[in-house]
Amino acid sequence: MITNKLFIFETPDETARAVAKVILTKVKEKTKKSLPLNIAISGGSTPKLLFTLLAEEYADVLPWHFLRIFWVDERCVPPTHAESNFGMTYESLLTRVPISENNVFRMQGESNPQTEAKRYQALLEKELPEKNNFPQFDLILLGMGEDGHTASIFPQDMSLLNSELAVAVGVHPENGQKRITLTGSTIQQAQHIILFITGSSKSGILRPIIHQEQSCENYPAYQIAKNSESVVFYMDKAAASEL
Ligand code: 6PG
Repeated sequence: MITNKLFIFETPDETARAVAKVILTKVKEKTKKSLPLNIAISGGSTPKLLFTLLAEEYADVLPWHFLRIFWVDERCVPPTHAESNFGMTYESLLTRVPISENNVFRMQGESNPQTEAKRYQALLEKELPEKNNFPQFDLILLGMGEDGHTASIFPQDMSLLNSELAVAVGVHPENGQKRITLTGSTIQQAQHIILFITGSSKSGILRPIIHQEQSCENYPAYQIAKNSESVVFYMDKAAASEL
């Protein structure tokens, strides 16, 4: 059982508050070295809760000029589309905190997917240090879907976990939507990974992952947790209800 990496809170809001504190701590650590924190963020309703909290309570607390924001994944839609991860982050966070646009590195969902994956990989190779020949983030904020996907690495395409690429094109198995996504090869190099998971709909998938039941090998979120050096699960009681 994965036990030393679990942090369980009463509510989604308390879980988001705990994650916000980790981000603040990590960015302050980097400011002591006069270095930025390179963070990659995910989309979805759980991260949106965190972004809203950061906007409402951390605008004057966090040293935003020391934060460089990248994306874990992006749907291949324009940034103004309702499903855009950037669009959600722009509305809930970026318009409400004093971060320079030079510190925001958007995946261009409106571009040709393969072209954008190559462009973003080249950008990461230019902007980030490398580890094991892949770009290394200081911190990656991951979510997890009800099918055990994380980033836009779905159980139907596990090859993205150990791709030779740092950034690739994923496909949603149900609606065929293409997505730009960090591969597991990149994600697993991160100094620190937070799997931020809330809601009872995730409890059924978390059980086999945390208990390392036989089926867990089929879930990208488990594979990332197993193969990364520093991964923690931040979850609410509803998500943890079957543990
Ligand atoms: C995406 C996200 C995805 C998300 C999970 C959790 O673009 O779909 O990056 O990986 O983090 O699906 O989403 P919820 O928090 O909304 O359940």
